[in-house]
Amino acid sequence: MGIADAPREQWATRVGFIFAAVGSAVGLGNIWRFPFQVGQEGGAAFLLIYLLFIAIIGFPAMLVEFVVGRYTERNPVGALEEIASGVWSYVGWIFIATGFIILSYYSVVAGWTIRYTLLGLQDGYLADAGEAESQFVSLASGLDAILLHALFMAVVIGIVAYGIQRGIELAVKVMVPAIIVITVGMAAYAFTLEGASEAYAYYLSPDWGVIAAEWQSILPAAAGQAFFTLSLGMGVMITYASYLAQDRNLAEDGAIIIGFDTAIAFVTGLIVFPILFTAGIDPADPGAGAIFVSLAAAFGDLTLGWLLGTIFFGTVAIAALSSAISLMEVVVSYVIDERGVDRKVAAVAIGGAIFLLGIPSATDLVLLDLFDLFADQILLVLGGLLLSILVGWSLSDLAIAELGRGTGDLGAYGTAWIWAVRIPVILVLIVALILGILEYW
Ligand code: PFF
Ligand code: NA
Repeated sequence: MGIADAPREQWATRVGFIFAAVGSAVGLGNIWRFPFQVGQEGGAAFLLIYLLFIAIIGFPAMLVEFVVGRYTERNPVGALEEIASGVWSYVGWIFIATGFIILSYYSVVAGWTIRYTLLGLQDGYLADAGEAESQFVSLASGLDAILLHALFMAVVIGIVAYGIQRGIELAVKVMVPAIIVITVGMAAYAFTLEGASEAYAYYLSPDWGVIAAEWQSILPAAAGQAFFTLSLGMGVMITYASYLAQDRNLAEDGAIIIGFDTAIAFVTGLIVFPILFTAGIDPADPGAGAIFVSLAAAFGDLTLGWLLGTIFFGTVAIAALSSAISLMEVVVSYVIDERGVDRKVAAVAIGGAIFLLGIPSATDLVLLDLFDLFADQILLVLGGLLLSILVGWSLSDLAIAELGRGTGDLGAYGTAWIWAVRIPVILVLIVALILGILEYW
């Protein structure tokens, strides 16, 4: 039991929960990471494996987190202590540590999106790719990056401090619809560009040879990306589901959330690639700076590019914000539930600590890349793997009963879900973890 005696917070509405989870899922992962993972890992071939993993790994794994959260009504550390024993009860700590690490560099990248929004307003994008690159390098690390990282964290702290209903739920109800409308609008615009058909061909027709030749890198990248983009493997969905009333259909909510996240990632590709092809820029250009170099250069080249860029980067900043608040809520919920700390105090203290941890990433791009790779291909996958083993193999009855709460008897669906967790999810995560570790070292 938690120490605090006030009743635990809850979402006001089902839509509020879904928006919050969509807000968490849709973020830099969709817009910053996804298109350039596609570019780096071989175009449509990567897209295909990614979509497959979303369906067979992401969906069952999300339900695992939902079930644990709703059943225990606690933060990830408390939840794991409640349902597991021995070393397994410490798995929640991996989640908290991962949240800390991810938010520390995520906020730095979010800071860049603020910088590039402002740059658009000043008509500051540089059409020459070389110049755009040096501009990015000078803005990405150093005092400017640290200040914007601080600004972003201050906003995150402000929202989380107001709590579930008045903070997070209210914020996402504005942010999520805005993200959806703007993304679709920009894709429609990108459709009219000269380079669109070439871009669609690149993005949508898979080259099977690439999968055969590069599966060792495509597989962990696609699994890691599936987890990252759905906010899995670090207890966000445990935490958000812990604020649910008991009568929701979790499978339906999960399908809606995944549908939105996948649609936004997919549509982002329909924006980014036509813009790049129109400006004559190679999409295979990898690295953390990707959208800030090639896409910014493309904005420097296009008519009214400053305006498009401002809208684009502004939307990315909003998407990053709705994800960052979920990362922070994982840690904050732990301190509130288990330590009885006041929410506002918790938000300021934890946000401050995360800000400090992010300073290395704000001073050195190489470090940021290392943090990102480590969190994405190792920590998230490890957390997801351990939780899936625990729930799939030793808590399956409890899990099936909890999934069925609010929907009635699941029949064969419940069994199918548990077996999906037991074999495909665990297998893919083990392989991805091994390949990810090999690649990291
Ligand atoms: N899902 C977010 C994105 O795609 O940007 C990132 C993220 C948020 C990852 C929360 C993990 C997480 F726990
Ligand atoms: Na995402």
